[in-house]
Amino acid sequence: MIFDEQPLGVFAAGYPVAPAALRHHLTGNPLLDMAALVELTKALPAKSVEYNVGDLPVEQDPDKTPMNGLSAEETVRRIQDCDSWLVLKNIEDHPSYNALLDNVLDEVSALVAADHGPMYKREGFIFISSPGAVTPFHMDPEHNILLQIAGHKTFHLYPANEPSLVSPEQHESFHSEGGHRNLVHDKAYDAFRQSISLHPGDALHVPLKSPHWVQVGDEVSVSLSVTWRSRFSDAEARLHQVNGWLRQKGFNPPMRGEALIRDSAKSLAHRLLSGVTRRLLG
Ligand SMILES: [Fe+2]
Repeated sequence: MIFDEQPLGVFAAGYPVAPAALRHHLTGNPLLDMAALVELTKALPAKSVEYNVGDLPVEQDPDKTPMNGLSAEETVRRIQDCDSWLVLKNIEDHPSYNALLDNVLDEVSALVAADHGPMYKREGFIFISSPGAVTPFHMDPEHNILLQIAGHKTFHLYPANEPSLVSPEQHESFHSEGGHRNLVHDKAYDAFRQSISLHPGDALHVPLKSPHWVQVGDEVSVSLSVTWRSRFSDAEARLHQVNGWLRQKGFNPPMRGEALIRDSAKSLAHRLLSGVTRRLLG
């Protein structure tokens, strides 16, 4: 077993919208020690390795994120003192890490499938951060469980679909071609903030598109993020893609929750239209 059983029930009851604290048993796994992570950094294609300096403001402009002047491999080797943040993306492209990802997600796949369809597009990410590194305010398009492997981080989490934090236009831009994950942060948002302390063995279900920023403690941090998509995440993306299209045509479409039935109809219409377009083009 990778996860402790009891908190999994809490996770399942609140999935996909509620955060849940979990416990895992992956600390000490040899695939996740620093020597193995240097080898994985070398093995993955360059496009799967993103890194920059770690001492960023929460509201960092993504177009101006400063680099650290090192190679990716040097960054991992020197992570203790090079003041950097690095993510290894799509670790499932490496056979050993693909097996690890499957081992983790197989434990929750039946729980998530019950109400929102089977998980698919399994993807894994490993975050390696220098002491004190900050991940700026952003949201992600996947269902996600973050497993803390080494070091300590504080995960500052905000509710998804709260229009005073992320406007409908920002949702639509996020789901459009070239939309960036980083968001504007305002101190007033902190009225909604939940701060969760993660130590080795802790894990956190981060609900789909819940905005967050992360602060690493005074040791090197390693975290494994296991992600998937579902019927629910598909519907969320389609809703905002259709809303963006409607807004371009001069309409003012409502957010999810204001018009659930219309949202479902729009998602269905988008799916049908996509199918028709594929057939016509194919
Ligand atoms: Fe994230």
